[in-house]
Amino acid sequence: MLKLGVNIDHIATLREARYRGRGWGEPDPVAAALTCEAAGAHGITAHLREDRRHIQDRDVRKLREVLKTRFNLEMANVPEIVAIALKLKPDIVCIVPERRQEVTTEGGLDVIADEKALMKTRKRMNDAGIEVSLFIAPDRRQIEAASRIGAQFIELHTGAFAEECWAGPDEALHLPGRADLRSAKLAGKERHLAGSIELERLIAGAEQAHALGLKVNAGHGLNYQNLARLHCVPRLVELNIGHSIISRAVAVGVGDAVKEMLRLMKKYRG
Ligand code: PXP
Repeated sequence: MLKLGVNIDHIATLREARYRGRGWGEPDPVAAALTCEAAGAHGITAHLREDRRHIQDRDVRKLREVLKTRFNLEMANVPEIVAIALKLKPDIVCIVPERRQEVTTEGGLDVIADEKALMKTRKRMNDAGIEVSLFIAPDRRQIEAASRIGAQFIELHTGAFAEECWAGPDEALHLPGRADLRSAKLAGKERHLAGSIELERLIAGAEQAHALGLKVNAGHGLNYQNLARLHCVPRLVELNIGHSIISRAVAVGVGDAVKEMLRLMKKYRG
């Protein structure tokens, strides 16, 4: 079964917009996380950024205390945050690149360029009983490097896929599936279909990672429209989804937004 990790950073973004620096305020990401769990989410993801723009230290401490499912701490590979993670002991850390000016995590990690430092952190986390995932683009050389450093998981960056799918909500619903792509290839047709190249990269990346013994998650930019198309990607264990669920929650509430996503994910066949 494909699992859902809900990213709750966006709830903290809203709180910080009004209550920055006060140590309290609404909406509360921890309360939202508990609602996600009650609705069936398999895990909660929170990104403790170096600039603390959304999730705060007190949030991750409280999450560690109250979560009953899997706690995935997203983090940059920097000494301050590594020390916090080792003390906090989330179930898993997902190491991401972090740039100060970005709106959200914009690219995948360059594992090749940072192999030594990532290997060191991977070992320290594993020694503390924490699993390690690396957020990377579906790139053959990056996946090989993730395997070399001994990560348990990779999280495939689906941002480019989501961008290519985004032709407006109506068109997104009519994007072709894997079978269409195959027949387009067989027929020698030009592959002009939106999202096809990125989808093929994700499919190849997931197969490669699986063959190397890595478990495969995916995330970034996934939503209620592009999910059906992502179902063409094999071997997926968990999706980490934030923005679309929290946005939907504005209309229907957090619990129903999570349930709607879980209902769509049930169609995944691996
Ligand atoms: N996975 C990772 C590693 C991320 O950095 C993010 C964004 O914070 C997500 C998943 C969720 O992306 P989105 O909010 O677009 O669903």
